[in-house]
Amino acid sequence: MTAEYKVHGDVAVITLSNPPVNGLGLATRRALVAGLMQAQADAAVRSIVITGAGKAFSGGADITEFGTDKALAEPHLHTAIAAVEQCAKPVVAAIHSVCMGGGLELALGCHYRIAAPGCSVALPEVKLGLLPGAGGTQRLPRVLGVEAALNMIVSGEPVPSEFIAAMPGQKLFDKLAASPESLPEEALAFARSVADVRPMPLVRNLPCRHPQGDAYFQFARNMVKGMAKNFPAPAKCVDAVEAATKERFEAGLATERELFIQLMWSSESRALRHLFFAERAASKIPDVPADTPQRAIHSVAVIGAGTMGGGIAMNFLNAGIPVKLLEMKQEALERGIATMRKNYEAQVAKKKLKQDKYEQRMALLSTTLDYADLKDADLVIEAVFEDLGVKESVFKQLDAVMKPGAILASNTSTLDVNKIAAFTARPQDVLGLHFFSPANVMKLLEVVRGDKTAKDVLATVMAVAKKIRKTAVVSGVCDGFIGNRMIERYSQQAGFLLDEGCTPEQVDKAAEKFGFAMGPFRMGDLAGNDIGWAIRKRRAVERPDMKYSKTADLLCEQGRFGQKTGAGWYDYRPGKRDAIPNAEVVQMIEDYRASLGITPRKISDEEIVQRLVFSLVNEAARILEEGIANKASDIDVVYIFGYGFPVHRGGPLNYANEFGLFNVVAAMQRFGQNPLDDAAFWQPAPLLQRLVAEGKQF
Ligand code: NAI
Repeated sequence: MTAEYKVHGDVAVITLSNPPVNGLGLATRRALVAGLMQAQADAAVRSIVITGAGKAFSGGADITEFGTDKALAEPHLHTAIAAVEQCAKPVVAAIHSVCMGGGLELALGCHYRIAAPGCSVALPEVKLGLLPGAGGTQRLPRVLGVEAALNMIVSGEPVPSEFIAAMPGQKLFDKLAASPESLPEEALAFARSVADVRPMPLVRNLPCRHPQGDAYFQFARNMVKGMAKNFPAPAKCVDAVEAATKERFEAGLATERELFIQLMWSSESRALRHLFFAERAASKIPDVPADTPQRAIHSVAVIGAGTMGGGIAMNFLNAGIPVKLLEMKQEALERGIATMRKNYEAQVAKKKLKQDKYEQRMALLSTTLDYADLKDADLVIEAVFEDLGVKESVFKQLDAVMKPGAILASNTSTLDVNKIAAFTARPQDVLGLHFFSPANVMKLLEVVRGDKTAKDVLATVMAVAKKIRKTAVVSGVCDGFIGNRMIERYSQQAGFLLDEGCTPEQVDKAAEKFGFAMGPFRMGDLAGNDIGWAIRKRRAVERPDMKYSKTADLLCEQGRFGQKTGAGWYDYRPGKRDAIPNAEVVQMIEDYRASLGITPRKISDEEIVQRLVFSLVNEAARILEEGIANKASDIDVVYIFGYGFPVHRGGPLNYANEFGLFNVVAAMQRFGQNPLDDAAFWQPAPLLQRLVAEGKQF
């Protein structure tokens, strides 16, 4: 049973009990309906209270059931809500802590609702590309008014119960309890007070109108169009609420159901649901059990106060963890701190951070030039120059001073973490923590697991990542780890596209139309083209046979490093980020093309996007096969949270699944026949070929 049934005198109390948030899975729905029957059969019971055990009234549908037979199995949520509405005795929802999605829809089916203060109330379905499908779009407007209800449905954001209770004319709550603690007693008293009221009130019988009708809904549609590019759900939420104002209740429910099913099948909702699970799955490491002991992390040290070090330090300060920052020179420390202060002050100016919070955070920061001062830190993160010799000197000094059991991490983006670990006598305590720039903003953290990294070290950093609000993904050791190894292939394709006839603007526009936050060339200008240049110079020694377009090198030879030099693939006005196409860059590309004897051809946006995206897919398949990534969904998380891959596509591998792996492989084979491209690279990865042969997906 996942709901408890107890009788308190003449009131039956049904307590939803399905941890962690009393999700309305099949077993819970069954127990709820059984409880209602039992209460109706018991002559001593005059009214019924439905509440939730533990930390929630109910968090809503059990989304692990989506797409399974269980979601449709009776009693489904509609049936359970109908059973509540049709109950012969008054049913009171006693709402506390969390009341969301299906939980709120269930409460709306009850005859009365009493809420504790401090409760989060929401219909968050839109965040999974859906709409509330169990009457929420029909009942909420009837108790809150059309506009307030539509705002909640379209945003999916939680609203505090006391805020709702204070809304003039609201009928969502019949009563606000004095406190969460007094809710159970107050709910019993309330249930007794309404035991004899007949007819029992039903939300479905309330009127639902908007005085400006059509004009208001037109306005609402325009609003969501701008807000939710690429996502159909918000517009369908508007349609459903409009139906509540125009149709009879049952017809409105049917419209809601139809719209819900359309969304359930949309690729956008599938992508969002995939990411919802992918993000949660990323924190689980197959051979590191959830109960692996963790090391305590009460203080952190950061080595290097440059671009990354300062941002990394801010993450810990924001989470209330003291940080000691080490540099080679006092000036470097001061420069680093000035940048951190500038970042915080910008947040204060934008009212995103209170002045006293800012000061509290900075008070947790101390600085030093002496390694001996770091000896008590529980975790140290190195963010010095990307040079193995420099890393060696840093890690040898850390090994000498750090207390036993301290975790030693490197923020390297390309170097071999096993080599770095071998500079110490404690390789089990060493790993990579690869933050993305700007480190205080970007959500992704690649956790690079060395051959000898201990399991408790991994378990600890995964928990720390959560504390500093990062989405962590584990990667094995390889050049570039998951994300940068893939992006190199993507950049390679971007270069070939220039050689064959595109301009940077055409490539970027096609990528942006597909949904990328930025096309490859605008991204290069933002990150700094010199970074890729340095990597290519290293590659030229390591892999002299690697094919690539030299246009990016020619660009760097002109000092066009990107936004930081005011010029890259595009020009930039001082202090502005708008990319302005530059005729000389286009000429440089044409000259290079001519020097290779290539006649330019017109390349379709479709080909551009496929070559960019499928290059990611092929490299990802190799990464997966080599065991560098633990699962396909981890790769999607990396690309969504670290590289601006369009959310509505759900990541490169989810997109490949949607596109059909057979079609993906066919396209790769086609690209491999292009003599100007890299035929060896386009050989479909063995894993991909196997999946196609077996009719499977990533
Ligand atoms: P940066 O050049 O901005 O900062 C490096 C800082 O380290 C400088 O302030 C320097 O004075 C200091 N430093 C150098 N040697 C030192 C030593 N022996 N002891 C103490 N301090 C020392 O470099 P950035 O961009 O912050 O990169 C740092 C690391 O982070 C590199 O390994 C880089 O590959 C990695 N990384 C960089 C990203 C980026 O976008 N900039 C993204 C992800 C990782």
